[in-house]
Amino acid sequence: MKILFLDQSGKPGGAELCLLDIAMCHRGQCLVGLFEDGAFRQLLEENQIAVQILSQAAIGVRKQSSWLAGLKSVRQLAPLIAKVVHLSRQYDLIYANTQKALVVGAIASLVSGRPLVYHLHDILSLEHFSSTNQRLAVALANRARLVIANSQASRTAFIEAGGNPETVHVVYNGFHLQQYQENHNQAKILRLTLELQEKFVIGHFSRLSPWKGQHVLLEALSHCSENVVAVFVGDALFGEQDYVQQLQSQVDHLGLRDRVTFLGFRSDVIPLMQMCDLVVHTSTVAEPFGRVIVEAMLCGTPVIAAKAGGALELVESGETGWLVTPGDVHELADAIAHCQQNSTEAAAIAQRAQHEAQRRFNLDTINQQSAHLLASKALKISSSK
Ligand code: UDP
Ligand code: GLC
Repeated sequence: MKILFLDQSGKPGGAELCLLDIAMCHRGQCLVGLFEDGAFRQLLEENQIAVQILSQAAIGVRKQSSWLAGLKSVRQLAPLIAKVVHLSRQYDLIYANTQKALVVGAIASLVSGRPLVYHLHDILSLEHFSSTNQRLAVALANRARLVIANSQASRTAFIEAGGNPETVHVVYNGFHLQQYQENHNQAKILRLTLELQEKFVIGHFSRLSPWKGQHVLLEALSHCSENVVAVFVGDALFGEQDYVQQLQSQVDHLGLRDRVTFLGFRSDVIPLMQMCDLVVHTSTVAEPFGRVIVEAMLCGTPVIAAKAGGALELVESGETGWLVTPGDVHELADAIAHCQQNSTEAAAIAQRAQHEAQRRFNLDTINQQSAHLLASKALKISSSK
């Protein structure tokens, strides 16, 4: 099966890291077409996955854009679509991994006749998208032979927005279990380097963006005991510089300079998570899936997540982690204190979570599910031989 993957981003966000793992399975038989250059291209190349940059400038339409902005981008899209039409003739199917990739992929599929698959990494609600973008996404996705939703939450929102229930199937993100072997030495060295010995360390792993809610953790931290510190891992990937400024001012305003570290984007997330006493996820609107939640579980680090969207499918509160109301600072501070004061319970919960995550999110099993769906639904190959 030869696949032309399309993704609009040059940066390695969660959807791109998920695509990397899927493309790895089709290495040698696929091409990843990106609409902008960046660190994601390097990551694909390091993993020997063929990649091509299909557009010279990033497309200027955002999740909340109006139809007018959409129209303006048509001039930019035309040469890109022509390229994809041409390329797609050498592949069995077009696999769109993001919204703008869906627009380009759907039109190209119409021209070249190659089947379209859409990997839906978003909750298509008005919290996340303008109504124009939502309608466009659903109309185009309804042209796909197969829509892969990253969670039940994303699937449900898609159907509520008018998506065809027959074509949408849930496949969770998968993870390389062997990468999560515990390495106490590395964790110890990291804590020493970051001067975090004797502290109760909370890790927050996410790009810096208002809806990821770093400000909620900062506020909660000001209600926690003095030896609780927070490490923020992640960068503003999509130009959220105002939010970065806001977080810095909040740190000063709350007098948290000595208790907060911003590490920027890191490629050593696993040892960093293993170093933490607790990982906190604070998205203020429903998280479509939440890779960082599963990663923390696989690391054996206790996790508190915001109770909405995909997180409800990942964590059973009190059993494999804790769920708190999104944006509720006091509930979060109480949950952190509970975890800090009940370390035996926290360790047992983290161990249970690790087993659950190993059972449910094994990349090999998940890749088999995807391959089966692609063959049976997108290429309509019958499995009865
Ligand atoms: N991540 C990373 N380095 C960082 C911050 C995050 O590699 O500095 C990874 C993180 O481990 C996770 C992904 O980025 O795999 C973020 O995915 P998630 O689904 O949590 O959120 P998204 O940003 O896609 O909405
Ligand atoms: C998107 C979503 C995130 C999800 C990731 C992988 O980036 O925001 O919740 O985990 O895709 O599916």
